Amino acid sequence: MSSISFKTSQEKSTYKFDREDWSSAYTNVEKELTNQPLKVIAGSIPKGLSGTLYRNGPGRIERGGQTIHHPFDGDGMILALNFKQGKVNFTNRFVRTKAWKEEEGAKRFLYRGVFGTQKRGGLLTNALDVRLKNIANTNVIRLGNELLALWEAASPYALDPETLETIGLSNLQGVLSSEEAFSAHPRFDPGHNGEPKMVTFGVKTGPKSTIRLMEFATEGEQGGHLLNDRKDNFNGFAFLHDFAITPNWAVFLQNAITFNPIPFLLGLKGAAQCLSSNPNKKSKFWLIPRDSGAFKGEPPRIFNAPDGFVFHHLNAWEDGQEIFVESIYYSSFPSIKPNEDFLKIDFGSIPEGQLKRCKINLKNNKISTDLLSRQCCEFAMVNQKKLGKKANFAWMAVAECKQGNGPLQGIKKLNLSNGKEAFWSAAPSGFVGEPIMVANTEAKKEDEGWVIVLVWNGTRRSTELVILDACDLKVQGIVEIPIRVPHGLHGSWYNHQEKSTSILEN
Ligand code: CO
Repeated sequence: MSSISFKTSQEKSTYKFDREDWSSAYTNVEKELTNQPLKVIAGSIPKGLSGTLYRNGPGRIERGGQTIHHPFDGDGMILALNFKQGKVNFTNRFVRTKAWKEEEGAKRFLYRGVFGTQKRGGLLTNALDVRLKNIANTNVIRLGNELLALWEAASPYALDPETLETIGLSNLQGVLSSEEAFSAHPRFDPGHNGEPKMVTFGVKTGPKSTIRLMEFATEGEQGGHLLNDRKDNFNGFAFLHDFAITPNWAVFLQNAITFNPIPFLLGLKGAAQCLSSNPNKKSKFWLIPRDSGAFKGEPPRIFNAPDGFVFHHLNAWEDGQEIFVESIYYSSFPSIKPNEDFLKIDFGSIPEGQLKRCKINLKNNKISTDLLSRQCCEFAMVNQKKLGKKANFAWMAVAECKQGNGPLQGIKKLNLSNGKEAFWSAAPSGFVGEPIMVANTEAKKEDEGWVIVLVWNGTRRSTELVILDACDLKVQGIVEIPIRVPHGLHGSWYNHQEKSTSILEN
């Protein structure tokens, strides 16, 4: 039993969990299943829950006896959970990337991973090998008729939305140049400026950074067509994993970090291990006017941002001259060093993520920040109909401890106006992935629907799907997943029905 303790001047709290209950999720996925009906082991599947949950994450943890150095280096494995009339079917497939096929054939790693996985053979084998291994493991989304497996430093892989078979690298009908970077965090505009759109970006970085901002049609026959496209240059290196949108703006946060490529070139570190927080630099907000909004064609605006490091944003919205941006802040860039084993990670040594709201005044350039939630969190989302508008509620994965870092073991619903919270917990031996809030298509209220989440059951050493009521987080149903799924990354919900017509009350 390992334990982590947190002490502050006011309060002392100790929370214990068995680290092996957590780390046991990291095993190779050996089976690929097709359309398998799943067993409900508690409660039932709500009849109104109709659509597909797609999810991506690392599925190959080990090859030829060598374990990856960081879970972000694991090859992408896609799950599809298809819900219909109180039943759910399961399909899973690895993304057959170029590197996956080569390494499966060779039964060993042939590429270095961005997060520190090295090829066998020491420095000489790894030095100066700067080939990028597109592992398509970060997110999976529907765009038009295509299902896309996303990895931010290269182009997406297209998959068959039903069978999940890999079709191949996609340039999105000629939009992307060869292996062009394409973010793993598109945002789905629910209809701020006319029809719904997918807004996303690609970034090229170095001493200067270029952001390409793209908007795609999502509906009907036009689905997947590029509608808007602009490029903007900024000074300085940028690590941009995510962004936020409002009706008029795309909001980026340039973290105050430095990239020193020398240890990467020498074969000592993975590229992402060469990033470090730089206390002498200031984080910046980069606001780019959306081509479908009121400030089309105007130059970007730049503002100071709070100190700290941000991977993910919750939401952003506008109120007159003010822009509000809600994001998860770490005190510094969290990374796993070359001599550390991620399976034995000391959570207490890593900074925790905290939800903060930043207010940017476009007129007087002033910014101010509020802490919304102190408890360690990740993977936060609002009802997708509220994306880009002021939302009343957020759902997120949280650590069990109220202070400091810990593994994600619970789900929290946070009232963003008054701070009221509801919880569901899988502790002490359960561990949660990204919760997806699925709105009931006939809902009038913002918190009417379900939260679905994959949970690693550390006692049974198996994966379960838990369905919660989005309003009070009461368990509606638990479903057994027939394979062990390592702790994963992002996913999305796809509703097969036509556009929902319901209007949310405020
Ligand atoms: Co992410």
